[in-house]
Amino acid sequence: MNVRIRDATPADEEFLWTMLTYAASMDPGGAASVAAAKSDDNLGSYVKGWMRAGDLGVVAVDGSGAPLGAAWLRLLEGPPMPFKVATPELPELAIAVEPRARGQKLGASMLEELFRRSSGRYPAIVLSVRATNPSIHLYERAGFVEASRIPNRVGGDSIVMRRAL
Ligand SMILES: CC(C)(COP(=O)(O)OP(=O)(O)OC[C@H]1O[C@@H](n2cnc3c(N)ncnc32)[C@H](O)[C@@H]1OP(=O)(O)O)[C@@H](O)C(=O)NCCC(=O)NCCS
Repeated sequence: MNVRIRDATPADEEFLWTMLTYAASMDPGGAASVAAAKSDDNLGSYVKGWMRAGDLGVVAVDGSGAPLGAAWLRLLEGPPMPFKVATPELPELAIAVEPRARGQKLGASMLEELFRRSSGRYPAIVLSVRATNPSIHLYERAGFVEASRIPNRVGGDSIVMRRAL
């Protein structure tokens, strides 16, 4: 597949909502639809108002420019939110790929590009992932290391991971 990775722009907001729904659906209690993600304050905070100052993202597109996946970073703005691990200095990662395009290293390529673009801008990137999500392998290969464990929205364990830039 002919794939290119470009910077995310404000026009990508709707696509990011779709990608957020995929990422959240890994939770049994996660959003099942874009409408559900938009009406959930915690989840919605990953995308609402994209792009604001400090937001940084990449989008993988096919030869015709159709988006296949996205990886993006957002700093915490306002009071701390339960289950969010971003801080005002450390942005949190969200990532997803369309089901038909998974397993072809798009996730790994987007992370590499995101690290390149965010290096020198932030000291590190953080993320939280359910302990049962296979994406942990991808994060470990990309240099994320476990920092702590926290309870998640649906009563299970999530692993907080951090990657220095
Ligand atoms: C996680 C995800 C972005 C990876 O993208 P990708 O292009 O398939 O990734 P790559 O081909 O670069 O790497 C493959 C790795 O992805 C992960 N992966 C594969 N299928 C997955 C799935 N259905 N769900 C979650 N992670 C998966 C595994 O870590 C896999 O490595 P492994 O084969 O050694 O176990 C993609 O699978 C996805 O969108 N999953 C659903 C959303 C999600 O779970 N997001 C993360 C929430 S914290």
